[in-house]
Amino acid sequence: MQRGKFITFEGGEGAGKSTQAKRLAERLGRLNIPALVTREPGGTPVGEDVRALILKDRPTDPVTELLLFVAARAEHVTSVIRPALDEGTWVISDRFIDSTRVYQGKRYGLEPEFIRQLERYTVAPDYPDLTLILDLPASAGVERARQRGALSRYDAERLETHERLREGFLEIATEEPERCVLIDGSLPLSSVETAVWQAVSAHLLAEAK
Ligand SMILES: Nc1ncnc2c1ncn2[C@@H]1O[C@H](COP(=O)(O)OP(=O)(O)O)[C@@H](O)[C@H]1O
Ligand SMILES: [Mg+2]
Repeated sequence: MQRGKFITFEGGEGAGKSTQAKRLAERLGRLNIPALVTREPGGTPVGEDVRALILKDRPTDPVTELLLFVAARAEHVTSVIRPALDEGTWVISDRFIDSTRVYQGKRYGLEPEFIRQLERYTVAPDYPDLTLILDLPASAGVERARQRGALSRYDAERLETHERLREGFLEIATEEPERCVLIDGSLPLSSVETAVWQAVSAHLLAEAK
């Protein structure tokens, strides 16, 4: 049996990640490709507890925050993502390693090599086959997130911070062009969906046949 493909959505708040993850799973389903949508932090009982903990009591130490996210991810990879891929299910994760590189790494100035090392222990060899980075001006993203409902403590950060985070995702897209496809998240929903589908078809469907 063919192993499933692993796709991640990344980008700032309100960029459309959750919406597009769901739509992509529906499209794959119509092609009889089993797909599982999951999210980070979260995706497992332990991960959801870590998510609630981080959102409730923000750790004061950046390394504490980093390790909590990484701990949740380790659990997510071993108990959800890897078993699903092994049984041929495609996995779509709403945020993954790039969010950690940007939100914990760049924002706090933590060493990229330390973060890569943690990825090697928790994610390797199951790095995403394809990462869709939805790009949107920070002001537009925050406005969308506000309209959607309550802002989390991450959403409520200053606009400059969101712009810096956006730059972080753009840098990753440039650094890893094999894995990452940058998509303009300011386009209408259906255009973003089309761009997502084109990327998935070009990168993954041809070889899955
Ligand atoms: N391309 C788009 N154009 C307009 N509104 C959008 C678009 N994509 C998402 N939205 C809306 O913006 C809000 C945030 O989308 P969501 O998918 O939850 O973003 P994220 O998961 O990246 O934070 C939702 O209300 C959603 O319906
Ligand atoms: Mg979301």
